[in-house]
Amino acid sequence: MSGRARRWAVVVAAGRGERFGGSTPKQYARLLGRPVLSWSLAALLASPAIDGIVVALAPGDRRWKRLAESRDPRVRTCAGGDRREASVSNALVALQAQARDGDWVIVHDAARPCLRRQDLDALIAATRNDAVGGLLAVPVADTLKADDGHGRSLRTADRSGLWRALTPQMFRYGLLRRALAMCLERERGVTDEASAIEALGLRPRLVPGRADNIKLTTPADIGLAEAILRAGRKR
Ligand code: CTP
Ligand code: MG
Repeated sequence: MSGRARRWAVVVAAGRGERFGGSTPKQYARLLGRPVLSWSLAALLASPAIDGIVVALAPGDRRWKRLAESRDPRVRTCAGGDRREASVSNALVALQAQARDGDWVIVHDAARPCLRRQDLDALIAATRNDAVGGLLAVPVADTLKADDGHGRSLRTADRSGLWRALTPQMFRYGLLRRALAMCLERERGVTDEASAIEALGLRPRLVPGRADNIKLTTPADIGLAEAILRAGRKR
């Protein structure tokens, strides 16, 4: 058996997109004529560093089969769960026959279609010899306000040392499985993998990423994402 730690990607695409609304789930909304999920898979599929990809889908998803990526031999699917962390956890179970504890898992939101290959490479390079793993993140640039509950600014919060967490996030298979199992068991809600790892007392590495690796949350983000993708094509 080879000793090289392999790298698996997990793309979570099982959300309902409630803030986005509409009849098409946001992971299948079209950006420049192509579904969001295809864009989100593109950087991962373009990387020779990734050995396989699991896409977590919502129960009854009939759109996936229409994507060209569904026929790629490196990609397989699993059923998502009722929360994001349950979807990630199900994907880790789907990998259990192949993945070893020391393998890497790179978790990416289907709702982040603007990930650039360079950012993925930077994350992989920065965590290569890291004992914990890490995530793409951006230092907070705006002044932060805390409201008084009535729409007025009560005070200015200190932004120093604060980052916005993006995806991908990259951790060892065994560690991530343990961390998520603990959070699910204790019903401790986590919105990203890094918070599950932090709950074990560990400190994920913050890898500076591009601020334009945005997450589609509302329909207004469509125009922004298209502008970012168009700019990326021109380079
Ligand atoms: N996700 C998932 N399974 C869930 C919930 C979320 O796979 N049970 C995925 C989404 O598909 C998305 C990513 O996690 O790619 C980030 O979540 P978010 O932006 O919150 O998407 P939704 O949960 O779909 O949106 P909303 O919270 O507005 O309903
Ligand atoms: Mg959500």
